[in-house]
Amino acid sequence: MKNEYKHKFSTIILAAGAGTRMRSALPKVMHKLAGEPMIAHVLASVAHLAPQQTVVVVAPKMDVVKETVRKQSGDCQIAIQEKQLGTGNAVAAAMDELKGYEGIVLVLYGDTPMITTQTIETLLTEHAKHKVAISLLGMQPHPPTGYGRLVMSVPPFVERIVECKDATSEEKEIADVWAGVMAFDAEFLRNGLAKLQPSKVTGEYYLTSLIDMATQAKLRTLMVPVAVEEAMGINSRSQLADAEKVIQTRLRIQAMDGGATLIDPESVYFALDTQIGRDVTIHPQVVFGAGVTVADDVEIRSFSHIEGATIAKGAVIGPFARLRSGTQIGEMAHVGNFVELKQTKLGKGAKANHLSYIGDADVGDAANIGAGTITCNYDGVANKYKTTIGAGASIGSNTSLVAPVSVGEGAIVGAGSVITDDVEDDAMALARARQVNMPEKASAFRKQRKKIS
Ligand code: UD1
Ligand code: MG
Repeated sequence: MKNEYKHKFSTIILAAGAGTRMRSALPKVMHKLAGEPMIAHVLASVAHLAPQQTVVVVAPKMDVVKETVRKQSGDCQIAIQEKQLGTGNAVAAAMDELKGYEGIVLVLYGDTPMITTQTIETLLTEHAKHKVAISLLGMQPHPPTGYGRLVMSVPPFVERIVECKDATSEEKEIADVWAGVMAFDAEFLRNGLAKLQPSKVTGEYYLTSLIDMATQAKLRTLMVPVAVEEAMGINSRSQLADAEKVIQTRLRIQAMDGGATLIDPESVYFALDTQIGRDVTIHPQVVFGAGVTVADDVEIRSFSHIEGATIAKGAVIGPFARLRSGTQIGEMAHVGNFVELKQTKLGKGAKANHLSYIGDADVGDAANIGAGTITCNYDGVANKYKTTIGAGASIGSNTSLVAPVSVGEGAIVGAGSVITDDVEDDAMALARARQVNMPEKASAFRKQRKKIS
């Protein structure tokens, strides 16, 4: 997206928290929503507004977070918060990267991943319009447990935020809470952080204490409302599940608005990057992992699991199909029940309709893969080999194709074959023991068995 926005701002994204309430070895912001880590959602939402600088704050050993951030956006700066002394301390850790910067600093929390670009833009617009020192997003969740309460005698201006852990029972009754997104005037932020004192209750340095400071300095803090489902903070696994519900609803609506029919939308799960064309029909119980593109007029039948795959126009997938990474399905191709494809290109109009594993293969146009065909692509040690099947070839049922191997165009492989040598174009290959019929041998065999017992 080109930078056509009027707002000039830099952003700090906090991701250094231990995430204790997740009870996980994984940093909180690495937990996934719609297949992508929370931190990736936040980075994507803000990237559309082209911030001048993006600083992500992580804890010393969070290499996995650093890697994810770098992979997604090469120009992000990483700041290290040595000890997790609270959100105010975390923002302070980022300020070195913003030395000399004047303008708006937008602080986002890595555990608030549902926030949209439009809402961030609204906040920045309101911030500039009201010429305030601080602006923040407020919401009214039921119950407001865990969130910082907004004390406002003249709404929408905030005098202070009381953290839930520090609130009196009366303050806990306040319905308005801070949603984890705040914009500051850089100079005010810098000065405020330098004066920040720890909470007497928890010993943490709260970013939210800066509102109090602004009020004392007769500067205003503006509250801009946001829907709870967009700004919910994720501190626990059950909140993660709540957020997943919300994001899946968004993605289902997006697919349907784009012209796809979802017969039972609530049973279809998308990844953040799933791309679905027009007049696509998705039957109940279909799951999309990352990296899937589906062209127009495709039908995806029930109980299919699809990731890292491109599906061309008019193809029919499933029921019970599994498409794994590196799969390319050609136009009008068919993949039927209990068929698994990996690193495989299935040509235009090709068919693999029943009970097959096809891995590391190139299947030509209009080829037919019989039931129970297996590509033996792995040597059992470390290497994978390729199978090539020419256009119009027919692979009989229960064939094992021992890779590396190729079957030529228009060739026929007899059922039950174990193919270890290449088959030329238009040849017929049979690779199985010849059948022997022994008359009356059955009864003789039974008699012999009886004698033994
Ligand atoms: C915080 C707010 C609360 C607000 C809520 C919105 C404070 C003090 N409280 O509470 O007012 O209603 O978010 O969701 O800000 N982090 C660090 N370093 C730290 C501590 C936290 O980087 O030392 C990061 C975390 O990774 C997380 C974010 O800051 O991404 C928020 O921390 P968290 O502990 O989740 O704060 P909440 O209790 O949710
Ligand atoms: Mg939180």
